[in-house]
Amino acid sequence: IKMQHVKDYGEMSQKAAAFFYEAIHSNPKIHLGMATGGTPSGMYQELIHKLTEHPLPLGAIKTFNLDEYVGLTQDDPNSYYTFMRETLFAPLKLSRNQTYVPDGRTTDHEAECTRYENLLDTHGIDVQLLGVGANGHIGFNEPGTPFHSTTHVVQLNPSTREANARFFDRQEDVPTHAITMGIASILKAKQIVLLASGETKSEAIFQLLNGTMSEEWPITALQHHPDVTVMVDEAAASKIL
Ligand code: F6R
Repeated sequence: IKMQHVKDYGEMSQKAAAFFYEAIHSNPKIHLGMATGGTPSGMYQELIHKLTEHPLPLGAIKTFNLDEYVGLTQDDPNSYYTFMRETLFAPLKLSRNQTYVPDGRTTDHEAECTRYENLLDTHGIDVQLLGVGANGHIGFNEPGTPFHSTTHVVQLNPSTREANARFFDRQEDVPTHAITMGIASILKAKQIVLLASGETKSEAIFQLLNGTMSEEWPITALQHHPDVTVMVDEAAASKIL
């Protein structure tokens, strides 16, 4: 695991954006695994800024998101699709046929999970961006998720629903289920870049670097991946031994 220590969220966002800019620069057909949430938002902003100042051809890149809420339409203001469209796809003018997000509206969840996993297998992800939950979840793979899991439907932990409630008008509006790439799906990426900022992530970062590999801490699945870079700020790194 390669560690990159930064001071704070701002520096993490800049360094991560520089990394992704270079990745796109060196491979105009790159397949990027994308995450939502607070962690990558600053990075996306910085990346858009860089690409506006020094444009790169983006027509051949493809993006694949980690997860989506079940039951929300793509146009729902709280769907991860909407988040991605507003934060990244629209500003970069990425088209629908180069941006993949699991479909949370489907009634046949099994079929959607199989379809999405096949999509990942067909295209392959070059660089997967990850955030991490306070309990060590990656994607929506909560503690206890088998490491061999592929794309599947999950019931969200109360703590995760609470953490995500800040994006919704009311706590009870937070969906109870999501479709997520599994741990095995994530590990298939050639390279993984995990970002962590803030004290709430420090225990998960400690487990990744100093803990035993265990399904109780999903993030520890990354311990044996051959190419992981972790960008942590001072607060998130505060528990590392
Ligand atoms: C989002 C995702 C989640 C988040 C995690 C941290 O697509 O897969 O695992 O990365 O919940 O969320 P934030 O960044 O909001 O702290």
